[in-house]
Amino acid sequence: MLSGMAVEQHYLAGLDLAGRRVVVVGGGTVAQRRLPRLVRCGAAVEVVSPEVTPSVQGMADAGEITWHRRAYQSGDLRDAWYVLCCTSVTEVNAAVAEEAERTRVFCVRADAGSAGSAVTPATADYDGLLVGVLAGGEHQRSAAVRDGLVDALREGRIADQEREPAGVALVGGGPGDPELITVRGRRLLARADVVVADRLGPRDLLDELAPSVTVIDAAKIPYGRAASQDAINAALVEHAKAGKFVVRLKGGDPYVFGRGFEELIACAKAGVSVEVVPGVTSAFSVPAVADVPVTHRGVAHEVVVVSGHIGPDDPNTLTNWAALAGLTGTIVVMMGVDKLAAIAKTLVAGGRDAATPVAVIQEGTTRTQRVVRSTLDEIAADVLAAGIRPPAVTVIGPVAGLNSALA
Ligand SMILES: C[S@@+](CC[C@H](N)C(=O)[O-])C[C@H]1O[C@@H](n2cnc3c(N)ncnc32)[C@H](O)[C@@H]1O
Repeated sequence: MLSGMAVEQHYLAGLDLAGRRVVVVGGGTVAQRRLPRLVRCGAAVEVVSPEVTPSVQGMADAGEITWHRRAYQSGDLRDAWYVLCCTSVTEVNAAVAEEAERTRVFCVRADAGSAGSAVTPATADYDGLLVGVLAGGEHQRSAAVRDGLVDALREGRIADQEREPAGVALVGGGPGDPELITVRGRRLLARADVVVADRLGPRDLLDELAPSVTVIDAAKIPYGRAASQDAINAALVEHAKAGKFVVRLKGGDPYVFGRGFEELIACAKAGVSVEVVPGVTSAFSVPAVADVPVTHRGVAHEVVVVSGHIGPDDPNTLTNWAALAGLTGTIVVMMGVDKLAAIAKTLVAGGRDAATPVAVIQEGTTRTQRVVRSTLDEIAADVLAAGIRPPAVTVIGPVAGLNSALA
């Protein structure tokens, strides 16, 4: 022993468990939490337990693990490389740990961390990195540090040497709340050289970008004689061809009334590679935050998402408004604030009950969210009186009145 030198209990290592026998004693929720990562590593996992949770049973049924349906017996650790004691019975865990010590198998004791010869770090996967944190048995501390590291990586506060190759990512940014972008979307945003952003979507995230990132407001791209969409397509292609990694940050999901596929086609034609990152569409998420579930058992067995951009009186409409009027379920109208009167009138004329509940949600998931609840025959007047402006989502159907069940 070296005098004057503090001795730490643990040495952090990465184990290659592929094809190696790992024994998990116990099949409850503790084991259930550990098993997926062991399976992902390719370990030959054997669970020893008289009973297991339905999820563990599902893994056994799927052939991901082997389940020995019995109590632990001395000798179970033969040929094992690693063992986890996950039972709720201290004596059993102690007996397993004793055999592990005797047979020189590293052993995690879920019930008494420092009593085992190994501990499970707080772990997280981040884009090919495996982050592990040990804090001498202080689980809350290791989990908090792990979360902080992953957040910092995600937001680009810790430099990750990985650079994206030149190209475009069409990223669905979600409805507006910066927390509602996907993990992948946020990760790619942190690596962008150029961001082409819409007016809708998580604008707050732009604040977090490094000063070196070029941010282009899609609404302000000068487009001269070309249509604005053509100008956006051209900007994506131009920057990608100049060797940049371009994130096209769009509101909601790129392909739900988002013209994302036009951008994909333009890039494909120019030979620019594109990754599509789906997003949380406002069609469903905005109603959700206003206590409107777009389906509900026994109430709505269908949900139709419609663009109100071209109203029912316009000969260019591609929507079968008469068929919509015949539905009993949910109609979600996007881009329809100024056409609400015409839409409501058409639906009622087509047979939809005038008393059908309607909810209109403006700027959902943001600090300025507003909700107006009414009925089909009165919604247009109520929306006008309330001064509701786009962007707003309108939900028509019995689900729009279900919030009364919360009172
Ligand atoms: C051009 S579409 C884009 C939709 C987007 N791709 C999506 O999946 O949410 C714009 C319409 O989406 C709806 N919208 C988007 N974000 C919204 C929000 N935060 N609150 C209410 N409506 C929103 C409005 O109906 C708006 O007029």
